[in-house]
Amino acid sequence: MATHPAVATVGLKKPLEIIQVPTVAPQGDEVRVRVEWTASTPLDMHQNDSGLLVKHPQVLGDGIAGTVVEVGPDTKRLKVGDKVFGFTWREQKEKAHQEFATSNEWLFAHIPEGVTMAEAVTVPNNFVTVFHSLTTDLGLETPWPKPGNYVSPHAKDAILIWGGSSSVGQYAIQILRYYGYENILATASKKHHAKLQSFGAKHVFDYNSPEIVSSILNAASQIATDGKAGIPLIYDCIGSQEGSIKPISKIAKKGTKVAILLPVIVRDSSDSDDPIYELDVLKAASWEEGVAARGVRTHFYLKVSMTRLSRPFVMRPA
Ligand SMILES: NC(=O)c1ccc[n+]([C@@H]2O[C@H](COP(=O)([O-])OP(=O)(O)OC[C@H]3O[C@@H](n4cnc5c(N)ncnc54)[C@H](OP(=O)(O)O)[C@@H]3O)[C@@H](O)[C@H]2O)c1
Repeated sequence: MATHPAVATVGLKKPLEIIQVPTVAPQGDEVRVRVEWTASTPLDMHQNDSGLLVKHPQVLGDGIAGTVVEVGPDTKRLKVGDKVFGFTWREQKEKAHQEFATSNEWLFAHIPEGVTMAEAVTVPNNFVTVFHSLTTDLGLETPWPKPGNYVSPHAKDAILIWGGSSSVGQYAIQILRYYGYENILATASKKHHAKLQSFGAKHVFDYNSPEIVSSILNAASQIATDGKAGIPLIYDCIGSQEGSIKPISKIAKKGTKVAILLPVIVRDSSDSDDPIYELDVLKAASWEEGVAARGVRTHFYLKVSMTRLSRPFVMRPA
């Protein structure tokens, strides 16, 4: 049986190892892709450090950019030689951190002209995460193709992106601006403020400031429209119990919808301590009554309708 190398987590906090895994020929509508670029995400770290949703040894990764080298008999769109990127995570044969990944062709899209593989590979996980969170967890519309005169009915609502300079956060700001949102607030270190403003954030706050909560509430009170005060929508792209959820729980009021990227990080991993993660966001803070807080699980996104990635880029890769 043909095999190829793959990067795997082999045990809690152990160094990653290169192992040999079977090279799987594509069946039906599958394609086999030579992985030329992959993205390392915080999930890889969570899985290696805590075993989160992992059975060792497990090949890591869910974002691929590469070249199609073999196609199954029922493929319709992709052919050998196509440069593609995709979001693949469900089983060993399609994991991203290996030389060849075999998966359904509809999980891949052509890389648009002018976009490098290194840029394209940052897109699949985090771009999909934003669409999934906005639609499934915050209940917002993201129509595609966007009608020319489309403006979201929530366009004037304040929306807070906590962690605006994270990869997910940068896509969130750009996607919301694309759909016409005017009152995007974001948190980030000072060095990223100008960039996030250029993406469409109206105000950016330094999350290291001790006045972060009052500064955000003040800004929100000035942009409240139609008699709606406060911040109706909050997207936590960090999911840290102390670093994001605690301050957010002081900002969210009755009626606020909060989407928090899982896992909640209760304690970071370090040389001396094991990490602690929590999957129930309601346990992560003391929420005011009437706040609707939800944890985001992007890997469930196939259960909801999704925009295909094979659309022209309108975002700057993050
Ligand atoms: N559940 C899901 O479906 C899902 C999907 C995707 C990602 N995630 C999770 O989402 C998180 C972010 O992923 P990512 O790839 O976007 O991360 P990333 O790009 O590595 O984010 C790094 C940035 O986070 C910012 N940051 C760190 N602590 C912060 C805090 N307390 N408040 C505000 N910003 C803070 C820092 O910004 P500055 O440089 O400005 O200080 C840093 O540059 C990870 O925990 C990941 O596991 C979950």
